[in-house]
Amino acid sequence: MRKKIVTLTLNPVLDKSVTVAGISPNTKLRCTAPTYDAGGGGINVSRAVKKLGMDSLCIYLAGGSTGEHLKQLLDKAGIDQLAIPIKGWTRDNLAVTDTTTNLQYRFGVPGPQVEKKEWEDVLEILEKNLNEEDYLVASGKLPPGMHDDFYVQVAEVAKKKKSRFVLDTSGEALVKATKSKVFMLKPNLGELSSLCGVKSISAMELEKLAKKFLNEHDCEVLVVSLGAKGALLATKNLMEHIPAPTVLQKSTIGAGDSMVAGMIVSLLQGKTYSEMAKYGVACGTAATMHEGTQLCNKNDADNLYQWVLKTQK
Ligand SMILES: Nc1ncnc2c1ncn2[C@@H]1O[C@H](COP(=O)(O)OP(=O)(O)OP(=O)(O)O)[C@@H](O)[C@H]1O
Ligand SMILES: [Mg+2]
Repeated sequence: MRKKIVTLTLNPVLDKSVTVAGISPNTKLRCTAPTYDAGGGGINVSRAVKKLGMDSLCIYLAGGSTGEHLKQLLDKAGIDQLAIPIKGWTRDNLAVTDTTTNLQYRFGVPGPQVEKKEWEDVLEILEKNLNEEDYLVASGKLPPGMHDDFYVQVAEVAKKKKSRFVLDTSGEALVKATKSKVFMLKPNLGELSSLCGVKSISAMELEKLAKKFLNEHDCEVLVVSLGAKGALLATKNLMEHIPAPTVLQKSTIGAGDSMVAGMIVSLLQGKTYSEMAKYGVACGTAATMHEGTQLCNKNDADNLYQWVLKTQK
């Protein structure tokens, strides 16, 4: 069977964006007609994978009319999906851009409460849909009602099905998950600090901590993303700094998810870990070149990848 990419989003979001000319209290603010986007970690990874020319199966929890809207948006984007029904309504966030200042105000709400039966469904559906050597990419925070050891259970299913678990989350959910087998992690510096149990990490300590983490955990690849500074790739035998190209930055929304998408696409193309991390950086940076939730564009990513390859020779 062909290897495939499966993404998992437990707290997806319907992103609604409007613009308004000036924001002031106690007046009716006349906004433009809204545009809608499907969002949430794993969904962003699936959207970015599609933009990079590959397919994935996007598994997520969805409820209410906002959940229905999410399904339509993913259908329109041509993404294979498996929406697991929940009673609560999928959350919807609002982004308002003030055209007089060009500043964006982003309002986020918590996700719906997820019941025991519903998260049990997730594990069952994963078990049914995963095959040997598939990449299971879980990205994003857990919604209310889900225990912070949920990704541990996901890791166990991935292990049982011999698929490769890739995790991009934060806080306790991330720390707990690393007690199990994880193929690849993509923490940023803050997330790596939580993983290593330290308050902050200086550039001097980074490699040492990455090495220590790999020695103490069942994790094959660690890619620490460093924003405009690029990334550090660490495995048992590799330690490589990859600089990010300097570009005119419009929005960093979805940079991390675009990076993860680029790395998995590379792995499916049989690339080395070093090439994988470089393409990841290229895709992350490509995502910052566009406004809002557009993620990475393949052309930009391919051009930036060539730049990264040249500077690393
Ligand atoms: N300002 C920037 N300039 C160039 N590249 C950037 C910039 N910010 C992010 N990137 C690219 O995106 C990748 C991921 O970004 P970052 O380290 O900010 O991830 P993150 O903190 O997980 O982000 P997210 O908020 O999407 O979760 C970086 O490794 C880099 O390649
Ligand atoms: Mg991130």
